[in-house]
Amino acid sequence: MPSLYESVRIGSLTLPNRVFMAPLTRNRAMPSGVPGPWASTYYSQRASAGLIVTEATQISPMGKGYINTPGIHSQEQIAGWKPVVDAVHRSGGRIFLQLWHVGRISHNSLLPRNASPVAPSAIRARAQTVVETGFVDVSEPRALSLAEIQSTIEDYGRGAANAKAAGFDGVEIHAANGYLIDQFLRSKSNVRADAYGGSAAHRARFLGEVVEAVLGVWERTRVGVRISPVGTFNDMGDGNPEETFACVVDVLNGYQPGYLHVVEDTIDPASPVEHKADFFRRLRSAWKGIYVANGGYDAERGERAVSEGSADAVAYGRLFLANPDLPTRLSRRGPLNVPDTASFYGGDERGYTDYPELARSGT
Ligand code: PHB
Repeated sequence: MPSLYESVRIGSLTLPNRVFMAPLTRNRAMPSGVPGPWASTYYSQRASAGLIVTEATQISPMGKGYINTPGIHSQEQIAGWKPVVDAVHRSGGRIFLQLWHVGRISHNSLLPRNASPVAPSAIRARAQTVVETGFVDVSEPRALSLAEIQSTIEDYGRGAANAKAAGFDGVEIHAANGYLIDQFLRSKSNVRADAYGGSAAHRARFLGEVVEAVLGVWERTRVGVRISPVGTFNDMGDGNPEETFACVVDVLNGYQPGYLHVVEDTIDPASPVEHKADFFRRLRSAWKGIYVANGGYDAERGERAVSEGSADAVAYGRLFLANPDLPTRLSRRGPLNVPDTASFYGGDERGYTDYPELARSGT
């Protein structure tokens, strides 16, 4: 049986281990959406990950939902990502960019000409975002027209092409955590009466078309998809998650992307759910490709998941944030730095690039 610390192949990519760095929003980009001055150091410090997935990165100005998140829709942003990718490669790592559109989780003040956020349906989330002045309720969204859905799909294709131009090894489509694609997938946020709403197959259509647009740019194994079937963060819910995500897996099996990345718990601290082991076992067995598990894993659970075959790789968020040399620390059962929650979002290099590596043995 494979080990968490053994290599895995995804198409032409050989990953040296199965400890992935999960995407982590850090809000340290420039107001222009160009990665901030410490991003190269931050990511290259974590190059020993089997694969790094970047923080969520907006594909268009309308895809932005928080202050100081990076983008991948302007030449300046592409140029800003290049040194980050190069630094990771020089340190021996591999890095995928996460393509993001927040949909309704935004605020007028973050959008061009104070526009309203867009969503599958005009249903405001009971959720908050962060603007210049701090936390605020998200704004009232308006429903996308069919023409706007098409142009948003094109934005995903352009974002994917821009990521390629910046030198990334691949892209991950963010279809999780209550952002635009997830808003289409789930019945609580999608009440459209057209081909993009109603049945599970209709709700999964937008995801399928986004995948198709991205596959127009990248070879299929260089594309990952991240979902959060039981997540309630950002006011999400679904009348029948079992049916919805069986359909999502079906659609994705048709495209065979490089991996499926599954957030197995809710990231909503206000409403934790018990780990739905049976649900994820069924999802795992329906999915025909590489399965990347995420959500509260430690060394022991991660090792067990890979050796039992319930996951091919495990993505670590908070632990990777605080431990740049996480694969080494996990495999040695070394002590772990404790993540400092106060410096998760925004700020400077403190709590970003100053977490120490394990002292080298023998010194
Ligand atoms: C956040 O900024 O809180 C955030 C961003 C992307 C996620 C989850 C949370 O997928």
